[in-house]
This record gives sequence, C-alpha cells and structure tokens, in this order.
Amino acid sequence: MLKLSNVNAGYGKLGVLWNVSLEVHSGEFVALVGPNGAGKTTVLRTISGIVNPAGGEVRFMNQKINGLPVQQIMRMGISFVTDDGCLFSGMTVMENLMMGAYTVNDKEKVKNSLDSIFELFPRLAERKKQFAGSMSGGERKMLAIARGLMSDPKLILVDEPSLGLAPKLVLDVFKTLKDLTTRGVTILLVEQNVNTTLKIVDRGYVLEQGSIIQEGSSTELRENDHIKKAYLGIA
Ligand SMILES: Nc1ncnc2c1ncn2[C@@H]1O[C@H](COP(=O)(O)OP(=O)(O)OP(=O)(O)O)[C@@H](O)[C@H]1O
Ligand SMILES: [Mg+2]
Repeated sequence: MLKLSNVNAGYGKLGVLWNVSLEVHSGEFVALVGPNGAGKTTVLRTISGIVNPAGGEVRFMNQKINGLPVQQIMRMGISFVTDDGCLFSGMTVMENLMMGAYTVNDKEKVKNSLDSIFELFPRLAERKKQFAGSMSGGERKMLAIARGLMSDPKLILVDEPSLGLAPKLVLDVFKTLKDLTTRGVTILLVEQNVNTTLKIVDRGYVLEQGSIIQEGSSTELRENDHIKKAYLGIA
C-alpha cells in the first residue's frame, strides 16, 4: 500500500533522512520508533507531502506521490494526525470533526464517517458541543484521531499519540488504534513508548539519526539485543 524507497529528505540544506526505505501493507499496523530528533516526524511529513524529498520515491497504491500537493495526497486516502493534534480549541468537537472532512464532498459519506466515529468514540458523541480547548488531554488525543478518520482514509499516520498522557490513557489510545485496524484501517504509528508499542503492532522499524537501523516483526524487535538495551531498558 505504502512504499518508501531510498528517501532522502530534510529542511533546506539540512539533511534529516538518509536512504529511508519502508513498507506498509494493506491492513497492517506498523510502528516507527526511535529517539528524539531521529527524523520520525519528518518521515510522516514526507509521506503526507508537507516535506518534499530530495531523493528517492514515495509510492501509495502503486502511484508515485512525492511531489504531489498535500490536499491531493489526503484525497487519495492518507490522513496525518500530528503529535500536537492541531485542534481548533475555540471550536466545538463537532466543528473540529467537520474540519477533518473538508476534502470530502459527498454528504452521505460524511454522515457515515460521523456515525462510525461516534460508535468508536462514545465520549465524543456525548460532547459534540463542548469546545475542544476544554477537553482533557486524553479526550483531545481521541478527537485528533477521530478527526483524522473523518476523511475515511485508507492509511492513517499517527505521530506520538501517547505524548503527555497518563499510562492508563495511553492504553486506551492504543486500544482504540488496535480497534481501528480490525475495522480495516491501515496504520503507521510513530512512538517513543516502545515497550507498549511493540506489544500491539504487527511490525516495526527503528530509525536512528535519519536511517532505518532495524526492522522486523514486533516479536523479533522485542528480542533484539540493541532494542532491549536502548529502548526497553533490559540489560
Ligand atoms: N521545520 C524544520 N526546520 C528545520 N529543521 C527541522 C524542522 N523540523 C525538524 N527539524 C530537524 O529535523 C530533525 C528531525 O526532526 P523530527 O521532528 O523529524 O524528529 P523526531 O524523530 O520526530 O523527534 P521527536 O521524537 O523529538 O519528535 C531534528 O534535528 C530537527 O531539529
Ligand atoms: Mg516527532
């Protein structure tokens, strides 16, 4: 479904990603983990078209997408949930959700998305009229993910949803993501909470200093010596 081949990318003259290759198949739940500043967010920005790679190729559904405008990539079925959620705090839950559907013209489709989102996130259904700014941290994360689903994406890129959440809420968010995969949504998840992440995803990639240094099934990665030492705190 998604394939990055030898992607080099950065900001102006600053190189951040070096020969990054990774794949996400339809229906998979894949993680991209790595330390601060490794370039994880830059990978997601490159896929969603915010950053234009200097070299290599990004393909989605057998089509080259690097160089296409962000909106077109979104229309093709890729949704990006940023780590800050990018919510409009002065707007209600409902208004924020509708912003996520701005690329969708079909009203019936929007209604269907809303119905399934309220089924998946009953708390949001109860709080349609509440301002996003007055929601709790966990509720805002859920709203950001829900908004990302409003365009009915084939692939959703989620950047550090556990950031700033209490452990119990982290589990709630991860459980919701797992639920999504059982509903047929494909997920590329960026996380620093490696321990929990490797318990729920199918496969993962480890990015360090802009390069993929390790990849494998979640079981393989959990048993890898470097990952045990550097990410799981197991000597
Ligand atoms: N807009 C930007 N302009 C210039 N440099 C940037 C920009 N965004 C990120 N960088 C730099 O690119 C590198 C990778 O950043 P990126 O945000 O992709 O890392 P990350 O792995 O997501 O880190 P974190 O875990 O802290 O979110 C960093 O050195 C960062 O300073
Ligand atoms: Mg980041």
